[in-house]
Amino acid sequence: TTGDTTLDVGFVNTASCQSAITYIDGDAGILRYRGYPIDQLAEKSSFLETSYLLIYGELPSAQQLAEFDQRLRRHTLLVEDMKNFFDGFPRDAHPMSVLSSAVSALGTFYQDSHDPHDPEAVEISTIRLMAKLPTIASYAFRKSQGQSLLYPDNDFNLVENFLWMTFGQPTEQYDLDPDLAKALDLLFILHADHEQNCSTSTVRLVGSSEANLFSSISAGIHALSGPLHGGANSAVLEMLGKIQSSGGDVAEFVRKVKNKEDGVKLMGFGHRVYKNYDPRAAIVKKTAHELLAKAGQNPLLDLAMELEQTALEDDYFVERKLYPNVDFYTGLIYESMGFPSNMFTVLFAIGRLPGWIAQYREMITDPATKIGRPRQVYVGESERRYVSAEQR
Ligand code: SDX
Repeated sequence: TTGDTTLDVGFVNTASCQSAITYIDGDAGILRYRGYPIDQLAEKSSFLETSYLLIYGELPSAQQLAEFDQRLRRHTLLVEDMKNFFDGFPRDAHPMSVLSSAVSALGTFYQDSHDPHDPEAVEISTIRLMAKLPTIASYAFRKSQGQSLLYPDNDFNLVENFLWMTFGQPTEQYDLDPDLAKALDLLFILHADHEQNCSTSTVRLVGSSEANLFSSISAGIHALSGPLHGGANSAVLEMLGKIQSSGGDVAEFVRKVKNKEDGVKLMGFGHRVYKNYDPRAAIVKKTAHELLAKAGQNPLLDLAMELEQTALEDDYFVERKLYPNVDFYTGLIYESMGFPSNMFTVLFAIGRLPGWIAQYREMITDPATKIGRPRQVYVGESERRYVSAEQR
C-alpha cells in the first residue's frame, strides 16, 4: 500500500519504478507534487517555489526561496563560446533540436561536475540547468528570427528574464507585462512534473547508466519533442487551423476522427493515465479564457470550446475515456503571448525541467527508485538452424 492507493501485485510488476515525487490518480483526475494538490500550487505558489519543492522535497522558507532565486540569477549567463554554437544551425532548425543539442553542448563546459555520485556536482549542475535553459531557449528563438541575442538582466526573476531575452529589444527598456509573466509562470507550474511520462522515463533510463545530468536532460528533450507527447500543443493549433480553414465544420472533423480517416486524431485529447479530465487542462482552460478574452474575441478559442463540447457529449470519446489533456488549450495561450508554434514544446521543456531534475536526483540517490533494465515478451521465431545462401 502506498499513499492513498494499494497497488495490486500485477500493477507493481508492470510499474517502471517507485518514486516519492509526483502522485497521479488517473481515474479521479488527481495530481500532486510532493503531496501538494496541483490546484493549490497553481493558485498559491510560483514556478520558482514549485521547482524548489520538486527538487528538494519541501516548500522553501522565505529565506531559502530568496537564496535559490539569487543563485539562479547568478547563473543565467551562458559561457560566451556557447554563442558560436547557435550560428551552426540552419535558421529554420526546430528550436527543440537546438535546445537538446545546446544542453548537451553546455555540459561539455562543465566536465568537472559530471559525477552523478558527487552531491556538489549534481547540485551545481541543477542550478546551471535551471538558470540557463531559459537563456538557451530564448537564443534558439532569437536566432530563428534573425534577431540579436540579449544578455540576461538579473533584476528579473527566471520567468521575467526569459520574456526579456525572448521579446526584448537591445535599444529600449523592456516593458514587462506582469499578467503575461504571471500566466507563463502558472503554465510552467502545471508542466513541472508528471511522474513517469515518456520524457521523464527517458531521463531516468539514460541517467540509470550514470550518464551525467546534462546528457540525461538532453535525451529527455528529444523524447518530449514527439507529437504524441510534448509536441501535441503545437499539433492542436495546427488541427484548429485546419478545421477553421475548411469552413469550421466541427461535426465533420469529429466524424473523420471517429472513422480514423487518414489517421486523424483529436490532438490534445486522451491520456495514457488520465481516464478523466486532466486537472491541469481545467486550470489552463480557465487561464485561456482570462487571457484571450482580454485580447479580444479569439475564433480559434471558440472553435476549441465547440470541439471540446462536441467530443465530451459523443459516445465515441466518452466510451474511450478521452478527455482534454494539458495540451488542448496551452497552444492558444502561447500563441496569444506572441510565441510561434514551434516554440510551444520548448516552453513545455522549460516547465518540465525541475521535474526531470528531481526525478534524476531521486534515481541517483535512491537505487530503489531506479528503472531497471526493461525486459520483453519474446514473440519471434523459436531456434532455427543456419542454412547456406545456396540452399535459401
Ligand atoms: C502529454 O504521460 C504523460 O503524463 C504525458 C503528459 C505529461 O505531462 O508528460 O501528460 C503530456 O503527452 C499529454 C498527451 C498529449 N498527446 C496528445 O494529445 C496526442 C493525442 N492523444 C493520443 O495520441 C492518445 O490519447 C495518447 C497517446 C495520449 C494516449 O493514448 P491511450 O490512452 O494509450 O489510448 P490508445 O492509443 O491506446 O487508444 C485507445 C483508443 C483507440 O481507439 P480504438 O482502437 O479503441 O478504436 O482511443 C483512441 C484510439 O484510436 N484514441 C483517440 C485519441 N487518443 C486515443 N482517438 C482520437 N483522438 C485521440 N486523441
